[in-house]
Amino acid sequence: MNIAVLCSGNGTNLQVIIDKVKSGYIPARIAIVISDKAQPRALERAKKARLETLFLNPKNFKPREEFDRELVKKLREKNVDIVVMAGFIRLVTPYFIEAYKDKIINIHPSLLPAFKGAHGIRDALECGVKVTGATAHLVEEELDSGPIVMQKAVKVKENDTEETLAQRIHAAEYKIFPEAIKLLVEGRVKIEGRRVKIS
Ligand code: GRF
Repeated sequence: MNIAVLCSGNGTNLQVIIDKVKSGYIPARIAIVISDKAQPRALERAKKARLETLFLNPKNFKPREEFDRELVKKLREKNVDIVVMAGFIRLVTPYFIEAYKDKIINIHPSLLPAFKGAHGIRDALECGVKVTGATAHLVEEELDSGPIVMQKAVKVKENDTEETLAQRIHAAEYKIFPEAIKLLVEGRVKIEGRRVKIS
């Protein structure tokens, strides 16, 4: 089973995935790590782990779907079965979703469907919720939607800042994301309507 990891930033989730693949917990091979940014920390981590990397420059692909066509071409060249979006900050088009239907998984720093979008942690804090968390979900065209594979709740403390809350949410991500990826890789994620059943 070949997986590809898409990232735009720091790559701390990527690092956890690399480690979990290495230890055999996720029974797959990382065929390629792709970024839409030239030099994110994520690609450094991938190179250090001797993984193949690719930078796809969005400026070279207009309209947006052209980027996804190139992306899918690369994924197919590498015989990728499952695509992991680990901090990939980019809207995807139906072309990509259809090419990898129910095979794309994302991690989001809130308890979806609350606090979709780029500022899930800040928005939850400002809203004053007492509990937020992390969600691993399959990717659909609509932003931060798609059947939920796994969630973990995180309590908000009275004196939390965005940074302190983010630390605990990231820790929750590192627990559920590898587990959700493992389930997907093992073919144990069954979708019934909006619901995911784990077999
Ligand atoms: C994570 O918080 C994830 O939920 C969000 O982007 C962040 C990526 O962090 N989608 P990192 O690049 O894995 O460190």
